[in-house]
Amino acid sequence: MQQMTTCRVTMTTPDRMINQAAETIKKGGLVAMPTETVYGLAADATNDAAVARIFEAKGRPTFNPLIAHVPDLAAAEEHATISPLARILAESLWPGPLTLVTARRPTSPLSLLLSAGLDTIALRAPAHPIARVLLEAAGTPVAAPSANRSGAVSPTTATHVRESLGDKVDYVLDGGASNVGVESTIVHVNGGDAFLLRAGGVDRKTIERIIGAPLRDHFDTEQPLAPGMLASHYAPGAFLRLDAQSAEPDEAFLGFGDIAGDTAHSLNLSASGDLREAAANLFAHLRALDAVCFKNSLKKIAVAPIPAHGLGEAINDRLTRAAAPREKFE
Ligand code: TXA
Ligand code: MG
Repeated sequence: MQQMTTCRVTMTTPDRMINQAAETIKKGGLVAMPTETVYGLAADATNDAAVARIFEAKGRPTFNPLIAHVPDLAAAEEHATISPLARILAESLWPGPLTLVTARRPTSPLSLLLSAGLDTIALRAPAHPIARVLLEAAGTPVAAPSANRSGAVSPTTATHVRESLGDKVDYVLDGGASNVGVESTIVHVNGGDAFLLRAGGVDRKTIERIIGAPLRDHFDTEQPLAPGMLASHYAPGAFLRLDAQSAEPDEAFLGFGDIAGDTAHSLNLSASGDLREAAANLFAHLRALDAVCFKNSLKKIAVAPIPAHGLGEAINDRLTRAAAPREKFE
């Protein structure tokens, strides 16, 4: 990865710098991307390891799902089922500060870590001209949470990003101050119903005028405001047993480092004990072992201890939620 580079992009001379940012994204690096709402910490949304680096750089203690940024509605349709209602919203408000949460297509190459194992996906086509050129040049959807350390205020200038993330970002693309200044409005469209998950850059009235009906509030539904807040959230069908040294006869094993399990039904999050690699593999391995349990009539997935530092905090958070009692699921 190259050294952190900072450059000022003007609307007349963006190409070289944007191409360098696009190359950084293609190689799995992190780019501070100007958008009209706030600056995003951007990475290739189809690359699990790159998405894991976003969580690491932000110091996020949980795997809250991220927004995938796409150039337009046609690109969004590769990843999600767009209902007629979602289409009306996208056609009216994209590109712009609206994020649509809708059903993920099983064929989508987007990282499972990006959507934190959910069956829905958050998509947005940003309006900032530099973000748009960057998305075209990168040729891949881009995952981007706000480019600040977890818990800090969202950045609206390149200077804010540098202050918050310093050398954790590989390339800072300076597109001037974000003109909206608050994050996008997030609307969950479930068939013919639209729920407001987060107030943001497009106001409620504008959306209600477009859909010709009141927006429902998230508490009307089981859909949580921030999915990561649920105690038991994305739980596999099999039960989890944490901090296990080895597997019982009715268990599959999810290993880490040297604690790799002594059963044929095992996968290792990272044989070398690399927490970034472990985060990148987490949801895919949980799904795969869940299928193994189903096929072999196993009851549980035993999970090796995961260190608590770095991305280990988020991995443990998610494993604890997946292992939590889940009356609803039984
Ligand atoms: O304006 C914005 O939206 C900025 C710029 C960079 O695009 N991005 C941003 O991302 O604010 P972030 O990660 O800070 O916020 C994304 C929000 C989180 O609260 C997350 O819970 C929610 O989107 N989200 C993502 N995927 C979701 C899903 N499948 N279902 C429900 N909420 C989801
Ligand atoms: Mg944020």
